[in-house]
Amino acid sequence: MKITFTLNSKDVSVESSPDARLIHILREKFGLLGAKEGCLQGHCGYCCALLNGELVPACMLPVFSVFRGSVTTIEGFRETPDFTDIEKGFIQAGVDPCGYCASAKILTAHKLLEKNPNPTEAVIRKAMAGIVCRCTSYSALVEGVKAAAANRRVRSHGKYR
Ligand code: FES
Ligand code: FES
Repeated sequence: MKITFTLNSKDVSVESSPDARLIHILREKFGLLGAKEGCLQGHCGYCCALLNGELVPACMLPVFSVFRGSVTTIEGFRETPDFTDIEKGFIQAGVDPCGYCASAKILTAHKLLEKNPNPTEAVIRKAMAGIVCRCTSYSALVEGVKAAAANRRVRSHGKYR
């Protein structure tokens, strides 16, 4: 079956079994390796991408579900000023996520800041709870998201709020 969709702002199509997992299509057919294969059961968050602007686990989505939709991976998101705000915020707070969770943490922070430009620690912890990570401090991650939020507010409003 030919599946057409938008991938990182480009129209694409792929021949695939309709029930192939989106994560495999992204990685194997398009060479987009930012989203990782972790549990493949919807638990770890490492595979996340944006589908029509919403955060989704790409391991749980059959590729037919993106037909005529719009998928953004970390590779596409990297080109946006929103990414730069988060990258800078993470650096400011000393957050250095590994290759497995970086895409998930950045896209999750982005979606959180879209809905809540000034999230509390509790809200940030809740948003990040879906990403399995036992190797870095969640306190630093909270500070990183707060710094990212401040960066985004400054860019959006021209001053610190
Ligand atoms: S690989 Fe998709 S949630 Fe773990
Ligand atoms: S899983 Fe990536 S830093 Fe912990």
